[in-house]
Amino acid sequence: MRSVIDILDLSVEELDELIKCACDIIDHPEKYAKACEGKQLATLFYEPSTRTRMSFESAMHYLGGNVITMAGAANSSVSKGESVADTIRVVSGYVDIIAIRHPNEGAALVAADYTMVPVINGGDGGHFHPTQTLADLLTIYKEKGHLDNLTIGLCGDLKYGRTVHSLIAAMSRYSGIKFVLISPEELRCPEYVFDGKDRNNFEETVSLEEAMPKLDILYMTRIQKERFDCEETYMRLKDSYILTPDKLETAKKDMIVMHPLPRVNEISVAVDDDPRAVYIKQTLYGRYMRMALILKLLKEAEEGKEVKRDYGEVYVNKYFCKNPVCITQHEQELKHKAVIKNGRVKCLYCDHDID
Ligand code: NCD
Repeated sequence: MRSVIDILDLSVEELDELIKCACDIIDHPEKYAKACEGKQLATLFYEPSTRTRMSFESAMHYLGGNVITMAGAANSSVSKGESVADTIRVVSGYVDIIAIRHPNEGAALVAADYTMVPVINGGDGGHFHPTQTLADLLTIYKEKGHLDNLTIGLCGDLKYGRTVHSLIAAMSRYSGIKFVLISPEELRCPEYVFDGKDRNNFEETVSLEEAMPKLDILYMTRIQKERFDCEETYMRLKDSYILTPDKLETAKKDMIVMHPLPRVNEISVAVDDDPRAVYIKQTLYGRYMRMALILKLLKEAEEGKEVKRDYGEVYVNKYFCKNPVCITQHEQELKHKAVIKNGRVKCLYCDHDID
C-alpha cells in the first residue's frame, strides 16, 4: 500500500504512467466506468474546497465507486477535539481509499502514518498539494505537448501557495525547466522548496511585466488570505498582480495561462476569452488525473504492494519543530520527527528548518 502526500512519492516514470492512463480515460471513458465497483472513497476535508473535493468525488463516481464525505471540521468530532490519528484509524476501517485536506502542514503525513488504506493529500496548509500538480502536469502535457524545455513563471503568493511548492518539486525533475518566481518580497518561496535543486534554474523577480516575454507558461496564484497572521499585510499585498489583456500583449503567442483556482481578482475576467487561458480546462484535467491515481493506488493495495518513501534516518523526539502551523504544534501527543537534508535539520512533517 502507498499514500501520496508529496508529489515526490511518485517517480517521474509513474507520473508519465498516470498521464498516459488519464489520456486513455479521456479517450475511452466507458472502459473505466466500472473499474472501482464496490470500492469506497472517503473525502475528509477540514478546510474549504470546491474543485479538489468535488473532482475526487466525481472521479470516484466516474470509476463506478462510492463516496462518503466529511466536509468541514465543524460538523464532525474534530470539533470535539478528535485527533487526525484517531479520525484516520476509524475512517480507514470504513473505506478503501481516503483523500484528506487539512489546514496544518504535515497533517496528511500523520494520516498516512495511522491509516490502513491509501491516503492522498488534498492540501496540507501552505505546504503541498500533489493532486493539483497532477492536474497541472496533464494540462501542460495536453496544451504544450511536452513536459521538458519550458520556462515557467509562477506569480503571486509563492510563500503560502501550496500548489506552487508541489509544482516546482514535480517540474524540477524534467529536463530544461527554468522557473521565474514572481512575487512581492514578503511572499517569496520558502527555502525548503529549493532543497536539492539547482538554484541556477530559478530567477526571482517582483516584476510580472519584465518576466512576461520569456514565459512558456504563466501560473497565476491567489494571495492566500487565510494563511496571513496580519490582516494589514494581506490588504497591502492582495492586489500585487492583476493579469489583464494588455499585460498579455508582450507574452508569447503560444504561452498558456494557468491558475489552480479559485481566483479572486488576480486574473481579470477579460482574459478568459484569450485562447491562452487554460485554467477552466485545467480543472477538468484534474478529474482525469485523480481517476488515474485512485486506480493506481487501489490496484497496488489489492496486490498487497508496499511502497514506502525512504526518508533516510528519522530522529524521533530529538529535535522539536516550532513552525506554528505544523501539525505537531496542534496535536500535542504527536512525536516530533526530524531528518537531515543538505546538512540542515528539518521537520519531517512540514519541511521547515529546526534550529
Ligand atoms: C488551491 C488550494 O486549495 O491550494 N485550490 C485548489 O485546490 N484548486 C489554490 C487556492 O486555494 O488558492
